[in-house]
Amino acid sequence: MQFRSIVMGCGSYLPERVVTNAELAESVDTSDDWIQTRTGIKQRHIAADGELTSDLALAAAERALAHAEVDANEVDLVVLATTTPDNTFPATATKVQYKLGMTNGAAFDVQAVCSGFVYGLAVADNFIKAGQAKTVVLIGAETFSRLLDWEDRGTCVLFGDGAGAIVMRAANVTDQTAAAEVGCERDRGVLSTHLHSDGSTNDLLYVDGGPSSTQTVGHVRMIGREVFRNAVTNLADIAGETLDANGLTTDDVDWLVPHQANRRILDSTAKKLGMQQEKIVVTVERHANTSTASIPLALDEAVRDGRIQKGDLVLMEAMGGGLTWGSGLVRW
Ligand code: ACO
Repeated sequence: MQFRSIVMGCGSYLPERVVTNAELAESVDTSDDWIQTRTGIKQRHIAADGELTSDLALAAAERALAHAEVDANEVDLVVLATTTPDNTFPATATKVQYKLGMTNGAAFDVQAVCSGFVYGLAVADNFIKAGQAKTVVLIGAETFSRLLDWEDRGTCVLFGDGAGAIVMRAANVTDQTAAAEVGCERDRGVLSTHLHSDGSTNDLLYVDGGPSSTQTVGHVRMIGREVFRNAVTNLADIAGETLDANGLTTDDVDWLVPHQANRRILDSTAKKLGMQQEKIVVTVERHANTSTASIPLALDEAVRDGRIQKGDLVLMEAMGGGLTWGSGLVRW
């Protein structure tokens, strides 16, 4: 049997507290003008004391299940992409599984920093294609603010907290001739995923702590200019690789939903791809960089406000620490 992963619904959650650039400038040596000019960011959401990644993830997952009209008992796999787990172990996904009331299946975390959601998409899609899972909740959730050094103005102004989720379900496409179906109504679901990493660039973006090295959580460290340069190149390349693999061009894409790192990265990538600005879903000005949560947050917003419609071709792409980068092409 041949299976295709169909996206059934989505959901997201943002912590209540909004911190504007002006508020940040009261405690950090920065300004609204500097942050907006360099990044496009105006504000970010920050989790409350005691509000954990699992709380954000659970809220997003529950909303996605309600949107998909799928009961938690039908779910047989929870994949949670996160860099900020509640604890070093157990996997935060198992907490979410328990709180969703699921008693069957499996749950685990995926760690690829800002690329986590597309890595998770590839994992979930491959479980479904292999016939090993039928209904998957894929979540991207971060309390990234907990990894920030609030005295390092080069990094602490860039990030925020949040979570997003999608529900994916196996559709039997054994009788479907893929080549003949491209672009038609039956051609829904994950068309392809593409992943890359390059460990030689570990030192461009990392956290200076960990259980095995320092026995501390550590703080984000980054060589911003190098990350910027790599992001534009890798994100344009991965988009090209994805479209080539499917025999499509930029014009065929209805929506580009990129990882929301920085407005200038989004603009430079779009320019390199020849993609119209109107086709790009942008949330970075309100959410800042929520790492692995940024793509599902943006997806959820564009689905709920009616931009992304059933049958639309949606290209997701991301780059993060590792460096890792990847993409997923989905017929919504
Ligand atoms: N407020 C005011 N001034 C600042 C701030 C700040 N928050 N941060 C840095 N500066 C100062 C620096 O100290 C420096 O001052 P100097 O010239 O007196 O030494 C000056 O601004 C320029 O600093 P640069 O780091 O060279 O600034 P740059 O133009 O490269 O912009 C930025 C920095 C915005 C971080 C940029 O490099 C960038 O966007 N990089 C991509 C990083 C990113 O998005 N990372 C997210 C994770 S990876 C991902 O998600 C893809």
